[in-house]
Formats: sequence, structure tokens, C-alpha cells
Amino acid sequence: MERRIDLRSDTVTLPPPGMLDVLRDAELGDDYYHDDPTVKRLEQKAAEMLGKQAALLVLSGTMGNLASVMAQASPGTEVIVEQDAHTFHSEAGGMARFVGAMPKRIPGVLGVLDPDTVERQISTKDVLNGGTSLICVEDTHNAAGGTVQPLENLEALRRVADRHGVKIHMDGARLFNAAVAQGIPASEIVRCVDSVTFCLSKGLACPLGAVICGSREFIETARCCRQAVGGGMRQAGIIAAPGIWALDNMIERLADDHRNARRLAELVAEAGFGVDLRTVQTNMLKVETSPYTAEEFKAALNAQGIDLNIVVPGVVRLVTHWQITPEHVEEVGRAVRSLRRQ
Ligand SMILES: Cc1ncc(COP(=O)(O)O)c(C=O)c1O
Repeated sequence: MERRIDLRSDTVTLPPPGMLDVLRDAELGDDYYHDDPTVKRLEQKAAEMLGKQAALLVLSGTMGNLASVMAQASPGTEVIVEQDAHTFHSEAGGMARFVGAMPKRIPGVLGVLDPDTVERQISTKDVLNGGTSLICVEDTHNAAGGTVQPLENLEALRRVADRHGVKIHMDGARLFNAAVAQGIPASEIVRCVDSVTFCLSKGLACPLGAVICGSREFIETARCCRQAVGGGMRQAGIIAAPGIWALDNMIERLADDHRNARRLAELVAEAGFGVDLRTVQTNMLKVETSPYTAEEFKAALNAQGIDLNIVVPGVVRLVTHWQITPEHVEEVGRAVRSLRRQ
């Protein structure tokens, strides 16, 4: 097969050597009856790592966010989201379709919501308005380029939420990237939120799966919501076993992805393309392709065996992951420089 450098997303990752070996010995059972010991082990491990009472395995980040919103927001209530949140743009309108909640979009700076602005936008339930039920934050923030939510900001949002009796859900699809980038345990980040979704796929490289964590009561409600959206599973230990392996083996190495993204950003900037280095905090970078269109830029790199995604007109995104090596980064840097000379 032709060798390609795939920078479209960290979702393209294949299982690393060793990950699928654990499937051979995974103890399985029917999770519907709470009979799958491997699922239970993953859920307990995830809850402990995040300092929450309980956890629930779901099939995807989208399902985790949907079940979490469904469990905490009732129809007609408002859910505050950052303007470019994944939950708004890329989850097929799930919270409107299946929960009947109204996303209320607030522009952030680099994906980070201003707590005072959020407080001004919280609605009180009355005859005219269902009230605000939930605030969603995204860590890391995908559309902003993999940016991290500063801890002080999460703490301030927590105080706002508590003043108004509102819950906070974190779409932490890349929570461990945020933790590694800040050099703090993930539990410290999610201390400020009621519920969190993190993905086992993406940088942790599992073929599928995500986990939601929160209070025991929340998880039991979310279990029912998961069932409602078709996410109840049987011998789900085949998803959980690689998940446990990933939590043991794939978190610390995310620092390599961050280093590679930073180096790539520097090379792209040196080649004269626009990169906002403030946003390169984890494993992503967004590149302004001018004087080329994003399509031309992409086609030129595709021709050199490099895959990437267009995010908006004139901007492409490059994402590093375990299958991208420092040598790949230098190769992509050379390819980008060659574009500049054309
Ligand atoms: C920030 C964020 N949240 C949620 C998701 C959804 O995850 P999944 O693709 O597993 O449904 C993604 C996927 O890319 C994401 O980037």
C-alpha cells in the first residue's frame, strides 16, 4: 500500500502494537446484566482516574455528550455552548433532536468562554422561558485548534453555575491532551464539572469507544439515556479491554504528539504560511493557506502523500497522533516549504 502521512485527524489512528493482544484474554459477559467484568474494570478505572463516583462506557464521544445532555437538560431548557462547539456543529443537532433542549451559542476566545458573559446569558425559568439547565465546555476545543480550558476559567464557570443552580458538562473528547499539556491530572480539570465525556479513540488510539463520568446518580440516569439512543451493549468488554490498555499506555506519550505539532507549526510558519502559534497548545494546528486556496494547498500536499482536512475556506488543519513521527513532521515541513517556492 502507498505510504501516506495522515494528518486529517487523530481519529484515523490504528491500534498500536500490543493494544489488541488484550482481547484474547478479556473476560466477557452481558453488560446489560452488569455481567461484563472488563467493562466494569474500565468504568471503575476511569471513575478513579477522574475522581468521580462512577463511569459508563459508550460507543462514541457523540453518544457520550448526547447521553450526558439528555440526563441533565430537560426539553425547552437552554444549554449554553461555545459558538463553535462540537456539540453544536458536529453532532447532528442531537441535543435539539433527541433532548428538545436549545443550544445557546456564546462566542469564546480561543474556544474559552468568559464566565461573566456566561452569567449574563443564564436564563431563569419562568412562564416565558424554560431556563438554563446546562453549560457545556469543550476541552480541548477542536474548532479553536486544540486549545486548553485554563483551570482558573473552569473554576470561575463553576462558581457561576453554582450561583444559578446550573450543571456543567465537559466535552472532553481530548481531555487527556488537555491534562498532559497543562501537566496536571485529568481529575483536577474535571473537578469543576458535573459530567465529562472522554474518548478512547482519537489520541488514545482505540478503534472505538468513549467514557462518561460523574456522580452515581448521574451515571444511572445516563445509562437509561444510553439505552434510549441504542447504546446498550452486550459483550462490550471487547471495547473496554483496549480502553484499559490505552489508559495505561497511551496518555503520557501524548506529549510527543504535542511536541510534533509545535515543531510542525514552526516549520509551516517559517515557510511563510499563517499559523497562530497561541492556539498550538496540543496536537493540532490550523494553517492559513493564502496565497493558495485551501483546496489547492490540500491537493498539492496530497500529491506528496500527505493528507489533511479543510476546516473553513482558506484554512486547513493538521493533527498529530502516535502514527506521526518526528521524521514525518520534517517531511511535511519540506513539502510545505516547496509550495512556497512554486
Ligand atoms: C471535541 C469533540 N467532541 C466530540 C467528538 C465526537 O466524538 P466521536 O467521533 O467519537 O463521536 C469529537 C470528534 O472528533 C470532537 O472532536
